[in-house]
Amino acid sequence: PPADPCSFVIFGALGDLTRRLLMPALYNLAAQGLLSEQFSIVAVGREQMSPDAFRNDMRAALAQFGTQKVDRQVADRLLACIQFVYGDLNDDKTYGDLKRALEAIEGVRGTGGNRLFYCATPPTMFAPIAEHLAAAGLTQEENGAWRRVIVEKPFGTDLASAQALNRKLLAVLKEDQIFRMDHYLGKETVQNILILRFANGLFEPVWNRNHIDHVQITVAETVDVGLRGQFYDATGALRDMVPNHLFQLLSLVAMEPPSRFEANGVRSEKAEALDSIRINTPEEALAHSVRGQYVAGEIGDRQVGAYRDAQHVGAESTTETFAAMRLDIDNWRWAGVPFYLRTGKAMGIRRTEIVVKFKQAPVSMFRNLPMEELAENLLVIRIAPEEGMKLHFNAKIPGPEVEIAPVGMTFRYKDYFEAVPATGYETLIYDCMTGDSILYQRADGVEAGWRAVEPFLQAWKNAGTNGLETYAAGSDGPKAAHDLLARDGRKWRELI
Ligand code: BG6
Repeated sequence: PPADPCSFVIFGALGDLTRRLLMPALYNLAAQGLLSEQFSIVAVGREQMSPDAFRNDMRAALAQFGTQKVDRQVADRLLACIQFVYGDLNDDKTYGDLKRALEAIEGVRGTGGNRLFYCATPPTMFAPIAEHLAAAGLTQEENGAWRRVIVEKPFGTDLASAQALNRKLLAVLKEDQIFRMDHYLGKETVQNILILRFANGLFEPVWNRNHIDHVQITVAETVDVGLRGQFYDATGALRDMVPNHLFQLLSLVAMEPPSRFEANGVRSEKAEALDSIRINTPEEALAHSVRGQYVAGEIGDRQVGAYRDAQHVGAESTTETFAAMRLDIDNWRWAGVPFYLRTGKAMGIRRTEIVVKFKQAPVSMFRNLPMEELAENLLVIRIAPEEGMKLHFNAKIPGPEVEIAPVGMTFRYKDYFEAVPATGYETLIYDCMTGDSILYQRADGVEAGWRAVEPFLQAWKNAGTNGLETYAAGSDGPKAAHDLLARDGRKWRELI
């Protein structure tokens, strides 16, 4: 069914996110009939612009970034409901103008007063926007109308700044008005982890330390720093990926079953899982992690220069473009089962996957086949690309002799489901408009994530260039990342 009617206010409407993702996502929702008839958009931008000029811009954006062929009628209807408000987001006047625009819309379009404020702005603007909105009386929920704010990662740059941001937001909004978005939760394959675990009786009985040896989470990217030097050099792979995207995957794998499939139950269990990650001392953090920076190399036939030579990157930058770590989860389910995480830019292959390695058979009764020659029992959950899952096990090679070979059972999404053209934002935006925050992050989850990575941030900062490994662009990361697992008698699933 279509979502609740509302005014969808975009702050930072002239920015990249609006063109590349928001408009295409709204278009896809409109095309599927998931926007209400009364849906309206108010774009707030920092340049004087006529509404028609803005609409034309958005039409061009749909053509350029849309994920499906643009249907003229659908696009016309969507673009016609856009109003444009000009203003600086630090200026009270902008919010006064916005208020008048909203009230005018609410008078004629029957949105019921529902308002969704989307902060497509730099993160430094999240709190000021929320404060201005509240001061202008725009976020007060009244007469059954809802008022919601979407902010997208990064939520702070460490525990203290994340706590400060949460405090500021919660001073002017209620928790259930704040929708903290992590686009990984918009991925079907990520949502499916919950279904895999809790809609099947098969996996849960073995999903624990009695049967699982360890878990690996890999997010390898081929993209290099590109033009994002300014942001990235101040951020690094750990902050950019681990407490957010990789921890979404980790918490979905590690969480206890919630008693109900609803936002607070699910988010409490996810936060609890993150909260159970052992907090390392600085020494342990160093011993359990590897950071690396790429040097020049080739990715396929693309020549990639060294990270330090990239635009807006310091010539002596110690920012990591690769991070790997071992985390331990101190609870009854996972005691003694390490979670190994790795992520990097400019690697030889793009792959996001979770590998659950099961314990081996207790003895090999096949005398000619020692234990170590048997294939590992793995469940590989492929998040992207080639979405699917594969269970690896051993089978007998037909013939009179007992010979054993590794085989696999594979599930590919594309064999069962038609691909729906999507940006990945559709579900998240739709959920916000219907008031379902199951796929959004709660303050405690965000803070638990930062708390777990804080020792690594600190230890790495203090270590400077000490222990900063290099790896060639196009490779599978620094050798030290392999040593990290080898020390525990384990190995990463091969990437290349
Ligand atoms: C973003 C990071 O949040 O996620 C980027 O800032 C990263 O550096 C991106 O490339 C990865 O997203 P995806 O969906 O391509 O895995």
